[in-house]
Amino acid sequence: MAAETPGTDEPAPELDDYDDYRTTDVLVVGSGIAGLAAALGAAREGADVTVATKATRPEGASSWWAQGGIAVSRDDPGQFKDDILAASAGTADSGAVDVLVDEANHAVHDVLVETLDVEFDTNGDDAANEGETEDYDFGREAAHDEPRILHVDAATGKAIHVPFLNYLDDHDAVTIRDDTAALQLVTHEGRVHGALLEHDDDVVPTFAGSTVLATGGIGDLYPRSTNPDGSTGDGIAMAALAGADVEDMEFVQFHPTVFVGTDGDTDEPFLVSEAVRGEGAVLRNGEGERFMPDYHEDAELAPRDVVARAVQKERDATGEVVLDVSDVDFAGDFPGLAEKCENRGVDWQAGIPVGPAEHFLCGGVDVDDRGRASLDRLYAVGECSRTGVHGANRLASTSLLEGLVWGLRAGEDAAGREADVVEAPELLDRDPALPDNFAAEKFVRLRRTMDEYVGLRRHPDDLGRAQAVLRRLKGEVDAYVRTRTSRSLYELRHASVTALLVARAASENDESVGTHNLVEEREREASAD
Ligand code: SIN
Repeated sequence: MAAETPGTDEPAPELDDYDDYRTTDVLVVGSGIAGLAAALGAAREGADVTVATKATRPEGASSWWAQGGIAVSRDDPGQFKDDILAASAGTADSGAVDVLVDEANHAVHDVLVETLDVEFDTNGDDAANEGETEDYDFGREAAHDEPRILHVDAATGKAIHVPFLNYLDDHDAVTIRDDTAALQLVTHEGRVHGALLEHDDDVVPTFAGSTVLATGGIGDLYPRSTNPDGSTGDGIAMAALAGADVEDMEFVQFHPTVFVGTDGDTDEPFLVSEAVRGEGAVLRNGEGERFMPDYHEDAELAPRDVVARAVQKERDATGEVVLDVSDVDFAGDFPGLAEKCENRGVDWQAGIPVGPAEHFLCGGVDVDDRGRASLDRLYAVGECSRTGVHGANRLASTSLLEGLVWGLRAGEDAAGREADVVEAPELLDRDPALPDNFAAEKFVRLRRTMDEYVGLRRHPDDLGRAQAVLRRLKGEVDAYVRTRTSRSLYELRHASVTALLVARAASENDESVGTHNLVEEREREASAD
């Protein structure tokens, strides 16, 4: 496609290594709620926006999968803040949490209710039309002092994400490029100028006045995760390789109640929302005993990291943990989950077998209260960012909210700059073929390493081992990256860089806090027996 120098009649500059390039005011990489909110924020400021996403369907974004809902401040932002700080074991950044709780009600009302017409569940038939927030059916989840979670059944992500995509698809200022992967950031003299985007094996530099990373989580680094496929930490790795600061990478949150099959090893884990425990479901071990009251005074509604470790411990000791939903109107309140169980042949009335699975990275690209990273013109929002809101452990149903609030703020800030066309890094494609199964085999090694050594419970020696394995793996991948541009290879590169960042951060933090839990040598030996 023909390029033009933005804002002038001058012919576009030639690039040495590429036939084509594109320009846009704001490039957003990723299409979950954070990326879409950034696109909306920038478009509202008059920017021309390109959203590049690997996803080919809405299900490709983690946001689509969110069940529980989106927390709001109701009329007590102070209590919401206290709950976030308590769940994080006092490690969340107080200033960042203030931004979140102060803007929650307005952002949800403005974007989700007024702009996208999302109809959150209410207690009465007419309440949604009247817009009376007190008539919403606020849900309760672990470590929340009061019910404050807006939801649509337990499929809230889908109910937000689909109208959001449709709205931006129809927006004149926004172009959504799906099935399009960002391989590398374009940088020049310490400033970020866009990214190299791959679609259908073609790599096209896309220059941007501002670049917003919204690439989601790191589920592909672990064998069991609630994230969609393709969650390879792309934004974090690209930012880190370009020299941006990343923080809190050791804080990987595991969700305690994921259907993992009776042997703990299904290929298709699915989340059983914390909202089910909020409604009164309890956890029982293989001997039928309810165990959470022995671990925490809030029992099943203790902070997520506490419940996840307890579930794992009881699974190890008694062979199984089930979520007992007999005191819940499961089919009535959670019809989608009941159907999922039935499709997998699970008799939910007898208890749903659950275990922990990787769910959310609390750290990421270090950003300020407008989503600005440490490199000029680079932003990060949503799960790939580290705003400080989550500290060492995230409170339930704050991730959609963080994505929405920071997405809007970053998008607004990112608008107002035009793209500069600079020399783009040359990607060599001298030898495009890869050995069969190259990426798939390396991913198996990477996931096994993360699972064994950098999982729910960690030992310093294991973290050293993990780094050694991951460094070797990254070296092998880098050698291939020098001559090939295949997407799977770049995803593997991003995953191995991100995995190393997690393992390194974990080994540098000798304090057990929140999701980062260090075990003693004796405990490690006992669990290996
Ligand atoms: C859930 O529904 O349990 C997940 C909610 C969240 O991760 O915030």
